[in-house]
Order: sequence, then C-alpha cells, then structure tokens
Amino acid sequence: MRRNRKSDWSRRLVQENALTVNDLIWPIFVVDGDNVRQSVTSMPGVERLSVDNAVRAAERAAKLGIPVLALFPYTDPDLRDDTGSEALNENNLTCRALRAIKKEVPEIGLMTDIALDPYTSHGHDGLLQDGVIVNDATVQQLCEQALVQADAGSDIIGPSDMMDGRIGAIRESLDANHYQDVQIMAYTAKYASAFYGPFREAVGANATLKGDKKTYQMDPSNGSEAMMEAELDIQEGADMIMVKPGMPYLDIVHRLKSAFSLPTFAYQVSGEYAMICAAGQNGWLDQDRAMWESLLAFKRAGADGILTYFAPQVAEALAK
Ligand code: PBG
Repeated sequence: MRRNRKSDWSRRLVQENALTVNDLIWPIFVVDGDNVRQSVTSMPGVERLSVDNAVRAAERAAKLGIPVLALFPYTDPDLRDDTGSEALNENNLTCRALRAIKKEVPEIGLMTDIALDPYTSHGHDGLLQDGVIVNDATVQQLCEQALVQADAGSDIIGPSDMMDGRIGAIRESLDANHYQDVQIMAYTAKYASAFYGPFREAVGANATLKGDKKTYQMDPSNGSEAMMEAELDIQEGADMIMVKPGMPYLDIVHRLKSAFSLPTFAYQVSGEYAMICAAGQNGWLDQDRAMWESLLAFKRAGADGILTYFAPQVAEALAK
C-alpha cells in the first residue's frame, strides 16, 4: 500500500476526494446598526455584521466564488416576543440584509433560516402553548415566514425548526404565491445537540432559551429515524437535505447519501468550529490542518457541500 504514498505527486494522483470552493456555504450573523462588527466570544474570528458590512462580506464571498451565504439574525431583545412576530416583519433584519445583498451582489446565492428561535422571548423554534411546542400552528407561521423571506429575495429556504410536515406546507405556499423557483434545503436530520452552544450566543438565544429542544430535534442515539425524516422531506418536496451537526454524525451523512440521490449537505456547526479554534489557539493541535481534515471528512462521507464558518478562510486558501 505504501508504494502509492511514496511522494506528493503520487498521493495527489490517487486522491479520492477533494474540497473545492463550490462545496461551501458560508453562514453569517447579521445585527442592527451601521458599520457594526461585534465579535462572538465563543467563535474566534466570527463577527455579527450590520447590513452594510454583510454586503461587504457578500462581495468578498462572491469574489472568492463561494456559491451561497446563509443569513442568521441577531434580533434586538426588545423585538422578541412570545410568538416571534418579528419573523413576519417584512422589514426585519433578515429581509433588509436579503434586499441589500441582492441589490449589490446579485450573483451570490442567499439562504435563510426558517425557525422562530431568533425572534421568540422563550428561545424556542416554535410556538409555546402550556409548556408544549405546538406543531401545526407553528407550521402555519413558518409558511408565512418563508413567504416574507422569499419576497425579500431568499433563494434557498432552510427550515431548521424540525416541525412535522413543514416542508410540504412551505412548498405548497411558495408555489401558490409564485415562488416556485425558490429552493428548499431541509434540515432533515437535526439533532438536539450540545454543539449549538456558540451559535446561541451569536444570535442571542442563550439567555432566552427555556428548557431544551428534545421534543422536536432528534435524539443523538437514533440513526434509522434520520432515514424516515429524509423520506418524508423528500416526499414533501425538499430539493436538498442536510445533516446537523456534522462531524459527530458522519454516519448519517453517509447513510442518507447512499440511500437517496438528493444533494446532501452537512452543517459543521458552531461548536465544531469553536472546538477546532480553541484547541488551535491553545497550541493543542494545528488549527489549519484540523480544519482541512474535518472538511475533507464530509466529502469522504458523501456530502455534496458543507455549511461552515471556515468558508472564507478555506476559499482564500483554495484561491492561492
Ligand atoms: C435555529 C438554528 C440553530 C442552528 C441553526 N439554526 C440552533 C438551534 O437549533 O438551537 C445552529 C447552528 C450552529 O450551531 O452553528 N433553529
């Protein structure tokens, strides 16, 4: 076996997988204000950006050839309420960012998150009634949220809420409102994970979240259940499916990609990013090498693309 590994040229020749800029989706955090950049403590190098700076980020991404940006809002705490009504405001932060980027950087794809957690005072992704996250009423509101985002220019709707039946309902309301070309990337297998911690700091949901999300996000013990989720999402009209978190769930990525032919994505979430950066900063591992290795692993597992906070850094290195 070592003959093929004997030199750099030979290793390159027999390489099975490679990462390209076309594999990357860059998640960014948006915040109110002008010329604002706020660092997120638990995500070294990641900042919340005001809309004008988000446009600069989109320009940078487009220049690098990153196909898609995913937008996540840090909603002013005063605008958060019980029902997450700000999600339906056509001038909310996400919509303003969508319009500004579409106007100035029309060549980049924009993905937006469907879920209520950045807008609710209780931090849950759905409507809370008597201590229960109610499914169908939430789905109805998510459909409206999707329409508001599609109208503002979202290209890919990313439902991350894990309510039942939301993909079909959102597809139907998009089609009924002339948004038949808007794609849906379903957060198909989204686990109730500890690895979302730093994200919740970034969108300000740490302080608000009461309890946990185990009644709607998946149990980390389960694998076959992800197959069932995928069957439903595909049947309901998903264009792409996703697994989240990424690295602890590579088996799920592999199983989904092997069983279905849809484009399949992995989300290298905030906690995965934070771990690699923290160990790197401590000198406990080589951050750059760990980053490449972690991303290649997604390709090897069968992912067609990766949502990663390393996207700009990786794209810059690939461009050299
Ligand atoms: C919210 C949402 C979360 C993430 C993306 N969308 C957090 C959660 O479900 O609590 C996590 C992303 C990350 O950790 O990078 N629906």
